[in-house]
Amino acid sequence: MPASRLDPKAIPRHVAIIMDGNGRWAEERGMSRIEGHRQGLESVRAVVRAAHELGVQTLTLYAFSLENWNRPKREVDELMSLLEFYIDAELPEVQRNGIRVTSIGRLERLPISTRAKLEEAEAATRDNREMQLVFAVSYGGRAEIVDAARKLLRDAEVGKVDPEQLDEKSFAAYLYQPELSDPDLLIRTSGERRVSNFLLWQIAYTEIFVSDVRWPDFRKTHLVDAIVDYQARERRFGLTSEQVRS
Ligand code: FPP
Repeated sequence: MPASRLDPKAIPRHVAIIMDGNGRWAEERGMSRIEGHRQGLESVRAVVRAAHELGVQTLTLYAFSLENWNRPKREVDELMSLLEFYIDAELPEVQRNGIRVTSIGRLERLPISTRAKLEEAEAATRDNREMQLVFAVSYGGRAEIVDAARKLLRDAEVGKVDPEQLDEKSFAAYLYQPELSDPDLLIRTSGERRVSNFLLWQIAYTEIFVSDVRWPDFRKTHLVDAIVDYQARERRFGLTSEQVRS
């Protein structure tokens, strides 16, 4: 059982995943990119279940970036339908497992039906405390910071914020979901070594793990590999090794 390689006391609290490689997975098999996304949905199912089993408290999935709006309309439509389908199909299990579903991003750009499904999942799971599943949809890290700055400026204009008092903590209160802890581990699948505008503010001290596995092939064993690698690292947060160990 691969999970036995893990130290159960050092499971990352928050794991964020850039689910990449659906298109390449499909192209390598002579299939359409959409088939890759459909297969990717199976990985979403498996990884949500696995994260819950392993005791991860928050799992954030990069489901659709702001840049993804520029893909062919058919692909965009399919990705939205898959998200809706996921919620319909998985909500009962998510509920049974006490998982709370939330979403971050410029949600106002989503089709009404997709937004409604996300809101439905959010409302139905509001009181669940076993794990939080966050969908980053229509999401961009820079946009999140800009949106925060916009709200902050509005508050400053009406005197609710004193610019001199602003610090990192009070700025972070304007992010989409301020109560989210920063990710401990960021996993990117399919080999690319980029952060692609994901959670830019929140990943300041996050450990990054790049897996060569294409997202549609990603399963619990690969999540365990990433966590085992993470557990072998020393997180110093800018301190020296000596300071961290004392
Ligand atoms: C990247 O693959 C993946 C996406 C753009 C979207 C992720 C979507 C899913 C996993 C489908 C289901 C989603 C949910 C949340 C239920 P890519 O198309 O960029 O792959 P490529 O880089 O190989 O072209």
